[in-house]
Amino acid sequence: MDLFEKLLSDSGPLGQHRFIDNNFYMFPKLEGPIAPRMIFKGKKVLTWSLNNYIGLANHPEVREVDAQASADWGLAYPMGARMMTGNTKYHEELEEKLADFVMKEDAMLLNYGYQGIMSVIDALVDRRDIIVYDAESHACIVDGVRMHMGKRLVFPHNNISNLEKQLIRAERLSKESGGGILVITEGVFGMSGNMGKLREIVALKEKYNFKLLVDDAHGFGTMGATGAGAGEEQGVQDGIDLYFSTFAKAMAGIGAFIAGGKEVIDHLRYNTRSQIFAKSLPMPFVIGSLKRLELLKSQPQLRQKLWEVVRGIQSGLREKGFNIGTTQSPVTPVILSGGPIEGCNLVLDLRNNFNIFCSVVVYPVVPKDVIMLRIIPTAMHTLDDVEETISAFEAIKIKLTDGTYSRAGWDDVKKVVSM
Ligand SMILES: Cc1ncc(COP(=O)(O)O)c(C=O)c1O
Repeated sequence: MDLFEKLLSDSGPLGQHRFIDNNFYMFPKLEGPIAPRMIFKGKKVLTWSLNNYIGLANHPEVREVDAQASADWGLAYPMGARMMTGNTKYHEELEEKLADFVMKEDAMLLNYGYQGIMSVIDALVDRRDIIVYDAESHACIVDGVRMHMGKRLVFPHNNISNLEKQLIRAERLSKESGGGILVITEGVFGMSGNMGKLREIVALKEKYNFKLLVDDAHGFGTMGATGAGAGEEQGVQDGIDLYFSTFAKAMAGIGAFIAGGKEVIDHLRYNTRSQIFAKSLPMPFVIGSLKRLELLKSQPQLRQKLWEVVRGIQSGLREKGFNIGTTQSPVTPVILSGGPIEGCNLVLDLRNNFNIFCSVVVYPVVPKDVIMLRIIPTAMHTLDDVEETISAFEAIKIKLTDGTYSRAGWDDVKKVVSM
């Protein structure tokens, strides 16, 4: 069979929607400066879907430093991989400051979070080692685990007694193979907003010999007394052997880092293939990240403002009877019952008539009879924004319950999105 023809006949759970869409549900274009109100299809919408948690994306000092660094250095500098010709004192300064901030001995920059953590996982284990990971881990962890040639054991999301069972299996397997054990979880899970049960996992280190890698993409800058993340929040930062975060969320930038003990980070410097065989992060990203980190540390009021909005929207939604799951972080899922057609009509109504833009999570990430809207509050939102959104949600919930969205029909969705 022709390879590309085969792909056309099975384009995957998301790809199957590509013929009916017109940048409405998939690849929408949010235009204008990054802010709570942006332009979608020519109209101003209240936006709840950007991970600009503490509002750094458009912070005047950040914009100024980004622009100045681009003027001073351009995007080319430095050329080559860090190990060969792409190192600078700024890259090293950022690593030192990140390590210090997350209370680890050392840190290494990664060009992107996704490929970075995949490659870190690859550099940590060989075929004798055993990986044990949470079933709801982000795709980048799953892909990192997929590269592993040895045994992989998965535990149901945040299920510590099952994790312990897997650790007992892993210890048995590692005795046979002569390898070690790596446990991987997240600080804050980006869909549910649940924190990983880091305290309980760290406590298991008393009984089992494993190292813990935590992806804290959504916890860095949002959780903990100083913003150092979910480990700080739970008082177990020391028990995390390798702490990872991307710059793509609270830092509103590009890049990522992995932090831990000096020796293991040095091992990673010489073995992380996505860094060794790739060009170093361009200077504006590095200098821009130094500025963002400085603001993240020196302006705790941004995090306090974020949490004011988080508390406003989460308690408001709960009071009105919405199911927001078990979130413990700014990530706010709104879980409704309904099929994909009702979900499409509901989002259409929300975007077109209520001028509210939030992301919708669809099957296969959630079951077929669940519509999950996902709200990401930021420090830039106001309590008026919160009120407006809760009223809109009350209105759409009534329409969902009285069958309006099932009656509207798929053809209406097709008509509107192709306009
Ligand atoms: C939990 C988690 N890990 C890693 C990544 C990937 O980071 P990046 O966007 O820097 O590739 C993301 C998404 O950005 C994420 O949500």
